[in-house]
Amino acid sequence: MLDTTIVKVDPEHPERSAINAAAEIIRRGGLVAFPTETVYGLGADAMNTESVERVFVAKGRPADNPLIVHIGDREMLSRVAANVPRQAELLADRFWPGPLTVVLKRRLEVPELVTAGLATVAVRMPKNPTAVELIRAADTPVAAPSANTSGRPSPTRAAHVAADLGGLIDMILDGGTTRIGIESTVIDLTTEPPAILRPGWITRESLAEVVGRVEDATTTQHLWRSPGTRHRHYTPRARVVLLERLSPDEIRRICADLLKIGPVTFIGHSAVQLMDQSFTKVRLGCTAGDYAHSIYSALRAADETNPVVILVEGIDDQNEGAAVMDRLRRAASETIASEKG
Ligand code: TXA
Ligand code: MG
Repeated sequence: MLDTTIVKVDPEHPERSAINAAAEIIRRGGLVAFPTETVYGLGADAMNTESVERVFVAKGRPADNPLIVHIGDREMLSRVAANVPRQAELLADRFWPGPLTVVLKRRLEVPELVTAGLATVAVRMPKNPTAVELIRAADTPVAAPSANTSGRPSPTRAAHVAADLGGLIDMILDGGTTRIGIESTVIDLTTEPPAILRPGWITRESLAEVVGRVEDATTTQHLWRSPGTRHRHYTPRARVVLLERLSPDEIRRICADLLKIGPVTFIGHSAVQLMDQSFTKVRLGCTAGDYAHSIYSALRAADETNPVVILVEGIDDQNEGAAVMDRLRRAASETIASEKG
């Protein structure tokens, strides 16, 4: 067991002392969880095999699922990527720092464990000041998967990280709730056309504006290209059922039916009225932004009330909504949908 230090930082102007202490841990091969604009990451020196190995152990992550390498400036990109195609330059100019991860040919100096033996490396320059300052102070690319136990919802607050990884990592930088709430978009630039391996806050449409045609490789026949998407993901412990295009009345009836077998939690934007002690609801705003911001913490909170089933109301699958629905479909073991619009 490690003594996990939790240090609060000002999200916009992280304190120098906290950043330096965290950077020192990274340089010495330790593990630091830190906020990014998407979700909290579990950081380790990406160029040090032993520290990267600790990341896999702490998360219980399968070794065939590669990590994203986070950089603090463009110079660091050349330390991990063998070549940077023009498309990568264009995307970086437009979306970095920010929630976009690009997959490029890797340099041999990047440990095999980071890339799970692939010839490619995934790279992202985060925008969150704490993340950027930490990487720059550590002066090394930082490998950082989401800071959750493998298979659990990604953490959007320090308390989520502590619940999953307390005692297993050296430090948590607590920079409050993350701004976006779901993970970065992952785009593979080693294929022509480039392929989206994981939808995220940067939409397919806005990527296409920069690089032209973009393939959607998130459908099942492409899953082998994005190792992480093969694994079961984002799941709370309870059974999760996704509700698509149902009216508040239909939702109410489904809830009432399920309440006969045990406690039910409903997460969604519709007003569902039910007088029952065993019924809990978590009301979300109806935009993709509202859902992205709150969905993981809602799933975690729902799990704590030990329901027999968590019902999650879907949203429109367009633009940023596509990333949210991707996460909800992964979390859910079944879907109840209505065909009407
Ligand atoms: O927003 C994010 O991306 C967060 C924050 C912390 O930056 N990180 C994150 O990391 O979500 P993780 O490990 O939970 O997800 C990384 C995803 C996985 O689906 C993984 O398979 C994929 O990126 N990936 C990493 N390296 C890859 C590679 N070389 N080729 C294809 N996919 C890769
Ligand atoms: Mg993850």
